[in-house]
Amino acid sequence: MNKIKKCLFPAAGYGTRFLPATKATPKEMLPVLTKPLIQYGVEEAIEAGLNTMAIVTGRGKRAIEDHFDISYELEHQIKGTSKEHYLTEIKDVIEKCTFSYTRQVEMKGLGHAILAGQTLIGNEAFAVVLADDLCDNTDEQSGVLSQMVKLYEKYKCSIVAIEEIPKQDTNKYGVIVGEQEEEGVYRVNDMVEKPDPKDALSNLAIIGRYILTPDIFDIIKYTKPGKCGEIQITDALLTQAKQGKVIAYKFKGTRFDCGSIDGFVEATNYFYSKSM
Ligand code: G1P
Repeated sequence: MNKIKKCLFPAAGYGTRFLPATKATPKEMLPVLTKPLIQYGVEEAIEAGLNTMAIVTGRGKRAIEDHFDISYELEHQIKGTSKEHYLTEIKDVIEKCTFSYTRQVEMKGLGHAILAGQTLIGNEAFAVVLADDLCDNTDEQSGVLSQMVKLYEKYKCSIVAIEEIPKQDTNKYGVIVGEQEEEGVYRVNDMVEKPDPKDALSNLAIIGRYILTPDIFDIIKYTKPGKCGEIQITDALLTQAKQGKVIAYKFKGTRFDCGSIDGFVEATNYFYSKSM
């Protein structure tokens, strides 16, 4: 079985919760301290041994491509000055992996965005990172994707990262139930996208880290629009889960919902304290 090398970043969404900041700036480019959200995701993927970043963009997202490219003028300007080191991290990222892009022309949901990435992924298992779920780990631990890649080597099927959430928040997440296989690892037998708290199967919520086997693309093609009239990855994964082919993993680490103002502020405070 081949190792996972590719990571898909659905990045076509409008980021309406951050308007007006996201009117002309992709939400994935909003910085936590000095680094845009998507760069944290790419660094997590590199740490997990992935080297091919496949980004599904949309209109108004050109800044993402420019970010992961050389800026000759800027580099020339600051070369040899005390400011040169500010670019060290991003240059390192650019050296370690390649980036390819495709556009999701219509916004029909996360499942649809992932299907748009098929052209960049081909017929191999791949990771998915939703950049607005910002994850961090302590220095002794590896990152969430790294933990999941290791688990994939054992289970060789799709994997979703999960965490326990307050029951009243189930309507913001995909929610799973399953049989425990080992500490923190469940074989999923049912999953529902954003259930009302009173109907929720559990309080185990999917967060924005997935490993998907490539048969998911054909499944998405036949998946009908679900919650909010959108093609949901949770619904497509349910088809795999019914064949016993989805693992849910309670990851080790901290996650911030940077798709919300509260989560974004928390992440900023957390990384600021960490940098002190
Ligand atoms: C998406 C998924 C949902 C998952 C969440 C994690 O929802 O559809 O299942 O729990 O990401 O952040 P979104 O937040 O894009 O509405």
